[in-house]
Amino acid sequence: MSESPQHHGQWSSRIAFIIAASGSAIGLGNIWKFPYLLGENGGGAFVLVYIACVIGIGLPIMMAETMIGRRGQRSPIHTMTVLAKEAKATPLWQIAGWLGVLAGFLILSYYSVIAGWSMAYLFKMVGGFMDQVGPEEAQQVFMDLKAAADVQLVWHSLFMALTTAILMKGLTEGIERVTRVMIPSLFLMLLALDVYAATTPGFWEGMTFLFKPDFSKITPDSLLIAMGQAFFSLGLGMGSIMIYGAYLPKNVSIGRSSVIVSIADTAVALMAGIAIFPVVFSNHLPPSMGPGLIFETLPLAFSHMPLGALFGSLFFLLVFFAAITSAIALIEPAIAYLIETFDYSRQKASAIACGVCWFLGLGTLGSFTGGNQWQWHGKTFFELIDFVTADVMLPLGGILIAVFAGWVMKEKVSAAELDLGRYLRYWQIGSRYIAPLAVTLILLKALGLF
Ligand code: TRP
Repeated sequence: MSESPQHHGQWSSRIAFIIAASGSAIGLGNIWKFPYLLGENGGGAFVLVYIACVIGIGLPIMMAETMIGRRGQRSPIHTMTVLAKEAKATPLWQIAGWLGVLAGFLILSYYSVIAGWSMAYLFKMVGGFMDQVGPEEAQQVFMDLKAAADVQLVWHSLFMALTTAILMKGLTEGIERVTRVMIPSLFLMLLALDVYAATTPGFWEGMTFLFKPDFSKITPDSLLIAMGQAFFSLGLGMGSIMIYGAYLPKNVSIGRSSVIVSIADTAVALMAGIAIFPVVFSNHLPPSMGPGLIFETLPLAFSHMPLGALFGSLFFLLVFFAAITSAIALIEPAIAYLIETFDYSRQKASAIACGVCWFLGLGTLGSFTGGNQWQWHGKTFFELIDFVTADVMLPLGGILIAVFAGWVMKEKVSAAELDLGRYLRYWQIGSRYIAPLAVTLILLKALGLF
């Protein structure tokens, strides 16, 4: 293992870190998953529960993860090893790092396939192939895409190639440069879509659905879904924020940056809801279409609206931006690990890591096209990977990170690194008690043990 932690470089400024970390957090989870979970779990009340989860659980873990990363200055695996040694704890803590690197790999392998769909739809929208489609056609287009291995292979490969190219360029020239352009444009596009949504006849119906809480819809199940989603959406529990924290200059306030990133992530999820539901209601379509919401319902809705092709294209461009800025963060821990351990060049490490990921993605692709033939305990390859990562590995990683930061690290080390002043107590209560307990519940529930 390299003893010099400095060969990775640093963010050029505080804002560069905030933008890159927001890019990692803002992803398919915000624009694809959050709206359909909301649609299935009763709207407004889910929003409230979700926000409570972000504040009570997500934020303390984000601070913990960033803090561990900056203290360790290395890839999550080596960081956990070094910090465990510093705290005189067992080297087994590096398992948390391994878990993260592996989870990132697995998530990206399917993430890239779905990101590929967004590119395919961008292409369809811009090319005018979705003008005036009917409900059956819209459904057919989505089913055809999911069945077409060759088409998905092209988009999946293109997406991974772009991701690799960005990563090869490195921190400043690659990640910073791309996120600096894409994240602000994403906000602007989303704002434009929100304004557009405000002009549609279904606007108030959409807003009522989003923001009027109906607590009878809150079941223990939806509570846990909200917690899991907060976790996934903030991109926690798997070392991405840890590696981004490793590139963070010492003088930047972790507390303030984490608050900004959490607000940005939540704002984008809500803004996506504001863009989507009025359009859906304006066309008298159901809000609870599940995973097909943005790929089936939304194109249908746009196809019947004035300027629909324009705003539809904008929407899928935005999904693509959100996806690629997350993709680079998902695989960065693995790349940093390869560079540190084998002394690879950044180019070589990126090519290897992304190549393996591309290959794994073929499994997900096959599980969509293969008519779901290959199943294990009733789950396809895609569902299995999604379950193992989002429902098991991320919560487990999150518990380990919170416990390590809250209990194992010396208090004077974490306190100095976080520099939270009188808010330190809040962080301690979160990372010592609330987060580990709550996340343990998510985990037990996912495993069917509770
Ligand atoms: N936060 C991303 C999203 O909302 C998904 C994600 C989960 C992620 N873990 C991550 C992204 C780690 C980057 C790094 O879609």
